[in-house]
Amino acid sequence: MAQKEDVFKKIVSHAKEYGFVFPSSEIYDGLGAVYDYGQNGVELKNNIKRYWWEAMTLLHENIVGIDSAIFMHPTIWKASGHVDAFNDPLIDNKDSKKRYRADVLIEDEIAKIEEKIDKEVAKAAKRFGDSFDEAMFRQTNGRVLEHQQKRDVLHSRYEKAMNDNDLKELRQIIEDYAIVDPISGTRNWTDVRQFNLMFKTQMGSSADATMDVYLRPETAQGIFVNFLNVQKTGRMRLPFGIAQIGKAFRNEIVARQFIFRMREFEQMEMQFFVRPGEELDYFKFWKETRLKWHKALGMGDEKYRFHDHEKLAHYANAATDIEFQMPFGFKEVEGIHSRTNFDLSQHEKFSGKKIQYFDPELNESYTPYVIETSIGVDRMFLSVLCSSYEEQQLDGGDTRVVLHLPKALAPVKCAILPLVKKDGMPEKAREIMDMLKFDFACQYEEKDTVGKRYRRQDAIGTPFCITIDGQTLQDNTVTLRDRDTMQQERVAISELPRIIGEECSLNNLLKKLV
Ligand code: GAP
Repeated sequence: MAQKEDVFKKIVSHAKEYGFVFPSSEIYDGLGAVYDYGQNGVELKNNIKRYWWEAMTLLHENIVGIDSAIFMHPTIWKASGHVDAFNDPLIDNKDSKKRYRADVLIEDEIAKIEEKIDKEVAKAAKRFGDSFDEAMFRQTNGRVLEHQQKRDVLHSRYEKAMNDNDLKELRQIIEDYAIVDPISGTRNWTDVRQFNLMFKTQMGSSADATMDVYLRPETAQGIFVNFLNVQKTGRMRLPFGIAQIGKAFRNEIVARQFIFRMREFEQMEMQFFVRPGEELDYFKFWKETRLKWHKALGMGDEKYRFHDHEKLAHYANAATDIEFQMPFGFKEVEGIHSRTNFDLSQHEKFSGKKIQYFDPELNESYTPYVIETSIGVDRMFLSVLCSSYEEQQLDGGDTRVVLHLPKALAPVKCAILPLVKKDGMPEKAREIMDMLKFDFACQYEEKDTVGKRYRRQDAIGTPFCITIDGQTLQDNTVTLRDRDTMQQERVAISELPRIIGEECSLNNLLKKLV
């Protein structure tokens, strides 16, 4: 566990050192849970977005995109339920004056008990070696069973309190389990209160004409309120989808784990409108389709799992998360929800406008049902970064840090490196760069030894390094070095576009999806 946390810390500092992610407003000591993407980060992020956008809009004839405004009429958030119910339970420690999410404090307590179980299992595995039967050990070991029972009792109390929205019971659990503030170490807690996560601001210039508006906490509502606009102007017939990528804002009480939980983040959401009664078939379809999208990146099938929701929101009739194995455990990256006709019906009710679809096959009008796929760009970015990061020991005692990024997502596809800064090599290198730069993000580097330049490119995940040497000037060949194997082969310059294209093209990745 400690080792994994160390790796995560290293990933965070690597992301900063190599221009992927910077803390926002750093020279003013930062702004909590807000981050900026640097020169490499923005490219990786844009490539993730492009992969999602093209998978949605190019591969599905019945999905179109929109880009709706961040500001929307405030009644939208009343209709969607966010004004009344988009809350987290918060608690303050009177000594440290720090604010916490009551549910997170309890979840941390549950995680501590689980850690104790894992430690017992790891100890026994070491003792028994190959003959160790983990399942049997978990079912029979006294200490494990004791911890497990404690965990289960706490978990079911916690789950019930959350489901019942019982703030008093959450406070009581914190009391009963003697949960202390990690900073002050005391149990001097306030009551638990609800805290709405939406950021509010005013629109309008004169005091009497201002209106409270919210920064959207999800992009989805921009899609729902444009349902009729798109359906009518695009002459869309059910089933069809509307996709959108955009910023969302949540005043998270506790922001942790780097870009995993941010106050300003980006979502890629798609609402798929279907006939009532067909939604569960499409829910299954989108579960499979979205998992395939993730797995096509080749980061390891075993790193994904579904977490089906047992307790559903009152308007949903199915929901699942796609979880990814981060260094701090399996965590939600994407949600897939069958939201019935809740959102469209609510907007019909609150706006007073009819929001229905006339189905020419059935010759009737109805409110479509919706399957939503919703993925956080930043969480996706984090999953790619974490699964790509490797510190390698090389022969001869050397080490390197390499990002094995999926090649189509890499910020730079090839580095163009003249072996030395003379003898016509820089000029030849520029010629090659001019040939490749229209199709691939290239980086020209002539400073330092070629070995150092390779390491810098490994650290940002560049799939190929092209080295121009004396022989290049004679026979128009270069060495092409592979990031992952570090193997070099001599290839003709004319072959470069084909080789790099086959390995790095987004199209080839998209072809895996059909
Ligand atoms: N429209 C549905 C919706 O917004 P959600 O589960 O609240 O559902 C969807 O959010 C996705 O947005 C999550 O799976 C996650 O990837 C991302 N997300 C949510 N809150 C986030 C935050 N504070 N920071 C970064 N990403 C977040």
